[in-house]
Amino acid sequence: MEEDNSEQKPWYEDPFIQEMMGLMGARAMRSVMAGFKANLVFSGENGIADATKYMDQSLYDNEKRILVITDNFTKKFLPKMEDAFSNTNFEIKLWEGVKAEVPYETIEKGVQICKEFNPTILMAIGGGSVMDTAKIVNIKYEKPELNLLNIDAVSGSIGLHRKIKHLVAIPTTIGTGSEVTTAAVLNDTRRAPHKKIGITADDILPTIVILHPDFVKDLPPFLIMGTGLDTFAHAMGAYVSNWNNPLTTAINITAIKETLQYLPRLVKYGSKDLEGWEHMQWAALMAGLGFSNSMPGIEHALGHSFGALMEVHHGYSVGLFTPQSVAWQAKVTERWRDLCPIFEVEDKQMSRQKALESLIENIQTFIRKVGGAVAVREVKRPIIKEEDYKTKIPLMAEYALNDIAHLASYRPLRLENYLNIYKSAWNGEIIY
Ligand SMILES: [Fe+2]
Repeated sequence: MEEDNSEQKPWYEDPFIQEMMGLMGARAMRSVMAGFKANLVFSGENGIADATKYMDQSLYDNEKRILVITDNFTKKFLPKMEDAFSNTNFEIKLWEGVKAEVPYETIEKGVQICKEFNPTILMAIGGGSVMDTAKIVNIKYEKPELNLLNIDAVSGSIGLHRKIKHLVAIPTTIGTGSEVTTAAVLNDTRRAPHKKIGITADDILPTIVILHPDFVKDLPPFLIMGTGLDTFAHAMGAYVSNWNNPLTTAINITAIKETLQYLPRLVKYGSKDLEGWEHMQWAALMAGLGFSNSMPGIEHALGHSFGALMEVHHGYSVGLFTPQSVAWQAKVTERWRDLCPIFEVEDKQMSRQKALESLIENIQTFIRKVGGAVAVREVKRPIIKEEDYKTKIPLMAEYALNDIAHLASYRPLRLENYLNIYKSAWNGEIIY
């Protein structure tokens, strides 16, 4: 495997690129980043059968080898997919070795298995870590010479799909959106301290997605809230950013409406609400497409660092910073106005500031209603001590500044902005 374990920084930490990205968010420059990248989605009653048929017809018999990639928990879904392929000539092998947060050594292991088994299909069944592992294994299997730190968003494709014909994503949560994104996050465990690396390339977009409530309906309550809020944060953060096109605007707004309607139902009724699951699966997918084809908001820069240092779930973390993300961008764009009717704020009846504050309040109410937190002191899992949190703020702010999601903020943030936001977040106070 290629040596990319130097102390080299990923491309998006270059100060020049950070400055340039802010400028590129301007309308005049955005055409260079325009486009919409999406995949085949199979869902509903016949979704699995249709997807199976599609894969079966697209490969010669001597190519039919599927490596199913799962973690210890999602390997239980293997028999369901084996059943679906039982009348075909596919050889199916399971690798259940995915670990949370995608540590580097699991990538090496996955590549080794690929070399031995020669799969033509990688089928990821799981949440974000499983899908991201499959994406990065795909890169290192087909292009071992590529330096993962230098795969930048602007370059587009990196020349995959010569060996792996289909990268299949079967999400088992309602949040990550990784099934429809061109991005993956790796935890570079070769460094001390460990470092999260964002990787973006057109050809790690899964080619096939399968949605079915059976894969999600037994999610435990904490993950319904956590992953559901991740969806909410994707759609909200991407919507209020200036990085958008008419298609992402339509998709994000629908994802927000669906989440408002169906996430509280799932929190209340859980596995019984099949209609709710179907809607939230689509909402998660839409929000994934929405932010992947525009940009996530600063709730992700804030939430990534907060989650990493305080050991708080990703969706729980980014949900907490979503109101701040909306408020921050309101200084440079009026896109938050479109959210007012959705959150039942009669913005025309009040001053601009009052309308914005009412919107933020209603967003906070929704987050609390589904069990999320809007202040650090409200976080229950784990309980956070004020002193511990405050000592970690400087490092948290530094991490946020170098997060890939930081690049997308149309209103620039300096280190001191992050410091102030984190300080205020203890009580849930918003900085406008
Ligand atoms: Fe997220």
